[in-house]
Amino acid sequence: MILESKSFQLFPEQASNFASQVDGLYGYMVVISAFFSVLVAFLIIFFAVKYRKKPGVNIPPHTDDHSIGAVLLEIAWSVIPLGLSLVMFAWGASIMFEESRPPKDALNVYVTGKQWMWKVQHLEGAREIDELHVPVNRNIRLTLTSEDVIHDFFVPAFRTKMDVLPGRYTTEWFRPTKIGQYHLFCAEYCGTKHSGMTGTIYVMSVEDYNKWLAQGNGEGSMAEDGESLFRQLGCGNCHRPEGHGRAPDLHGVYGMNVDLSDGTHVRADESYIRESVLYPQAQIVAGYDRIMPTFKGLISDDGMLKLIEYIKSMGNPNGVVSERPLTREPSDIQKTGPMALPESEYKAPAGGPRPSAATGKQQ
Ligand code: CUA
Repeated sequence: MILESKSFQLFPEQASNFASQVDGLYGYMVVISAFFSVLVAFLIIFFAVKYRKKPGVNIPPHTDDHSIGAVLLEIAWSVIPLGLSLVMFAWGASIMFEESRPPKDALNVYVTGKQWMWKVQHLEGAREIDELHVPVNRNIRLTLTSEDVIHDFFVPAFRTKMDVLPGRYTTEWFRPTKIGQYHLFCAEYCGTKHSGMTGTIYVMSVEDYNKWLAQGNGEGSMAEDGESLFRQLGCGNCHRPEGHGRAPDLHGVYGMNVDLSDGTHVRADESYIRESVLYPQAQIVAGYDRIMPTFKGLISDDGMLKLIEYIKSMGNPNGVVSERPLTREPSDIQKTGPMALPESEYKAPAGGPRPSAATGKQQ
C-alpha cells in the first residue's frame, strides 16, 4: 500500500491500529474510481470513433430498444455500481463506528486547542504544549475542547482527525503501534497562524513513557488539582456527601443516569458536568431546587477539566483523591472571564503602546 522511498513518500507512515484499515478502504475507493474513470473515458473515445457519421449515410430514426439484452445491460450497470458503493458505505461505517467508540481501558488525555497551540494535560499532572507523549500499544483516548475557535486535531500517521470545538467536548482514540515521532496538525482553518498550529506526537516504549511521566512532574494529578478547585469554589458547601446537602451528592455520579426534574434523564458525562457548572439552570436534578449559581467566567477551561476529573474520581475506588493540603495559588480561577489568556500572554490594550509594524520598536 505504501509507496516509499528516501526522498518521496506517497502515504504517511502507518503508526496506529486504524492506519491499515483506513488505507485499505482508501485503496479500494481509488481503484474503483480509477477503473470507472478509465472505462468511461475509453468508451467515449471508442464510440465517438466507431459511430462517427460517415458522409452519405443517413441516420435512422431513434427507436427504444426493449430487447432482453438491453434490459439486462441496464440492470447490470445499475446493480454492480450500487453494490460497489454499498461496500464503500458499509466498510466506511464500520471504521467510523470503531473510531467513535473509545475502549473502556483507554488512557485518558485532555487536549485544549487555542489560537495557535495545543495544550495537553495528562491525568497524572504532566502538561505539555504542542507535544503529546504516549506509550506504544496502549489505547489512548483524547478528550478535546477549544478555548476560542474551531480547530481540528489531525495525526496523519494515525489516520485520525477530530474537530475541536469551543464549549464542547469531543473524543478521539487510537492505539499507537510504532515507536517514533509523528506530525500533529490543525486541520481546520482557525486564523492567521493556522498553518503553524502543529506539534509532535512522541510514541514511546512503556518504560520510557513511565520515566517521562515521572520526571518534572512536581504538580499534583488533575483530580487532586480539581479537588482543590472544588474547595476554592465552595462546591462542597452544597454538594455534601450522602445527600445531606442542598445539592446532589456527586459521589459515583460520573457515568450514571441522572433523573431530571422534568421527568427525563441524562447520562452524567463530561459535557453534562460542564453544562451543570456553567449553566446550572439548564437541567435540574429531580428533587432539588434551582439554587445553584453559574460559575461561568469563574473557572477556566483547564480548571473545568480538572474539576471533571475530580468528580470522576469521587466514589471511584481507583480514584486519586488525596488529602493533600492546599498549597498553591488558585491559578485556575479566573477573574476576567472564560476566554481570558494567562497573564504572560496578555496583549497590550488597544490604544496602548504597540510594536510598530515598520520598525518592530515600541512607539
Ligand atoms: Cu487551529 Cu487551524
